[in-house]
Amino acid sequence: MINVVFSTNADLKSANVLVLVSDEINKDFVPHTVKEMFGDEVSRGIANECSELKYNTIKSFDVVINGEIKNVIVAGAGKKEKYTRASFEKLGGYVFDKITAKNANVCVINNCEIEGNERASSYFASGLVLKSWTFDKYKTTKETPKISQIECQTEYERSNRSTFDCLEKIINGVHSVRDMVTEPANVMDPDKMLEESLALKELGVKVTVLNKEDMEKLGMNALLGVAKGSDKPAYVISMEYKTDESAPSISLVGKGLTFDSGGLCLKPAKGMGEMKGDMTGAAVVIGTIKTLALQKAKANVVGVIGVVENMISGSAQKPGDVVVAMSGKTIEVDNTDAEGRLVLADVLWYEHTKYNSSIVIDFATLTGAIQVALGHEYAGLFSNSDELCDELQQASQTVGEKIWRLPLQQSYEEDIKSDIADIKNVGSGRGAGSITAAAFLQNFIDEKTKWAHIDIAATEWDKKHRALSQKGATGFGVRLMNEFICNKSFCNGEQK
Ligand code: BES
Ligand code: ZN
Ligand code: ZN
Repeated sequence: MINVVFSTNADLKSANVLVLVSDEINKDFVPHTVKEMFGDEVSRGIANECSELKYNTIKSFDVVINGEIKNVIVAGAGKKEKYTRASFEKLGGYVFDKITAKNANVCVINNCEIEGNERASSYFASGLVLKSWTFDKYKTTKETPKISQIECQTEYERSNRSTFDCLEKIINGVHSVRDMVTEPANVMDPDKMLEESLALKELGVKVTVLNKEDMEKLGMNALLGVAKGSDKPAYVISMEYKTDESAPSISLVGKGLTFDSGGLCLKPAKGMGEMKGDMTGAAVVIGTIKTLALQKAKANVVGVIGVVENMISGSAQKPGDVVVAMSGKTIEVDNTDAEGRLVLADVLWYEHTKYNSSIVIDFATLTGAIQVALGHEYAGLFSNSDELCDELQQASQTVGEKIWRLPLQQSYEEDIKSDIADIKNVGSGRGAGSITAAAFLQNFIDEKTKWAHIDIAATEWDKKHRALSQKGATGFGVRLMNEFICNKSFCNGEQK
C-alpha cells in the first residue's frame, strides 16, 4: 500500500505532484511556501484560474521549476457547510485520476482543514489510496505504480495520523475483497476461500469449518443440493471475532458462490465469466472481519459464509427437485440458477441455531433484478426492522456506500408458494425478482432477530470506474459494515 505521511512542514521541493485542495470561496489558497517556490506570477496565474472552484472541479497545470516539471493539481472541495468525510474521500479518488506522473511523489496541501474538519487530509488521502488499487499479478509486464508516496501538510498532524492509521486498515479490507473477487474461479475456488478465511486466525479470529459430512449431519440439504454438480468441496465457514462480549452480537452472513454457471438452468455464455464474482458477499464478510481485527476493535461479531460452486454434471441438481432445508422447510428447486438463496437458507438457519446473534446482516450478489431496479449506485436493502435500517442508513451516509430500502411484506410470499413443497426458489410472476428473493430468505429468519439483507449484485462490480474504485471489483460493503459495527461497539478504544 502507498505510504502516507503527515507533517506540518511538507517537503515541497522533492514532490513532483503538488495537490492544493481549496474551498469554493477562498481566493488566496496558494500557501506562501508554494508562492516562494513558484514566484508571484505563476502563483497569481494559478489562483486566477482557480477562483471559486465548485466541488469536484479539478484543474491541472504543469509548472517547470529548475528544469523539472511539477504537476500542480487544484481540487475544489466545495462549500464549507457541505464538507463531509465522504466528500473528501471522493475528491481524493477523483484527483487520483488526474495525476499524470508515474511513480508520483505527491504532496497535498489542504486548505479546508478548519475547526470541526481537522481530519480532511486523512480522508482525502484515504480516497487516493482506495482508488490506487490495481490487479496486475497475471500481467507479465507490470505497470509502474502511479503513486509512490503521499505527504500531507497539516496543522493537525496527530489527529490525521491516528485517523489514517484506522482508515488504512479499512482500505486493507476493501482491497483484499477486490483481490478475492477479481481472482478467476480456477484460483478462487472453495478451498482458496477457506484458506483466505483461515488466514484470519493470525489476527486472533476463531475460524471453524463445516465440511460435507458435517453439513449432511445437520441436514443442510438446500446448500448441499447446489454443490452436487461440482467436483469441488463445499464449506460453511464461521469466523468469530469476539473481543467484547458486552457489545451487541452481530452476525455477518455471506453468499460465497465461487462460480455460478446457473447449473442446469445454464446462464448464457455472454457475461458468464462475471459469475466468478458471485462470492463477493462472502468476501465482504472476510474483509470486514479482517478490518475489525486489524483495528483491534472491541466488538462481538461472527461471520458465517457458505462457499459453494454451482456447476453442471450428471449429479447436478435438477429443476423440479425438492430439498429439505436444515430448518425443516421443504423447497422446490424451480430454477437451479436461483442458487444463492438456497445456500443462504441453510447458512442463515445455521447462524440462528449456533450463534443466534441479535442482529444478522447478509451480503449477497443475489439477483440480476437489483440492477434493473437500482443500477450500480445503490445496493438493495431489505429488512424486518426499521431501527436497523436507520442505523445502516446512518453508516451509509458517513462512508458514501449507498443503500436503498425496498419493501418486504407478507403478500410477496404468495409468489413463492409451491404446489408440491412449502416454498419454491423463484417467483411465479415476472416482477419484483429482488423482493421475492428477499421474501424467500425471510423464511429462514427468526422473528426475534433484527435482520437486513443487502443485495450487492450490481454494486460489487462496475464496468466503469467509480469515485473510489477502478473498473471492476468495488469492495462495496466493507466500509459500510465497519462503520455500522464501530458505531454500535467500541472501536479503536473510543466510542465513535
Ligand atoms: N448470481 C446471480 C445473480 C447475479 C446476476 C449476480 C448478475 C451478479 C450479476 C444469481 O444466482 C442468479 O442467477 N439469479 C437469477 C435469479 C432468477 C433465476 C430468478 C437472476 O438474477 O437472473
Ligand atoms: Zn444463479
Ligand atoms: Zn448466484
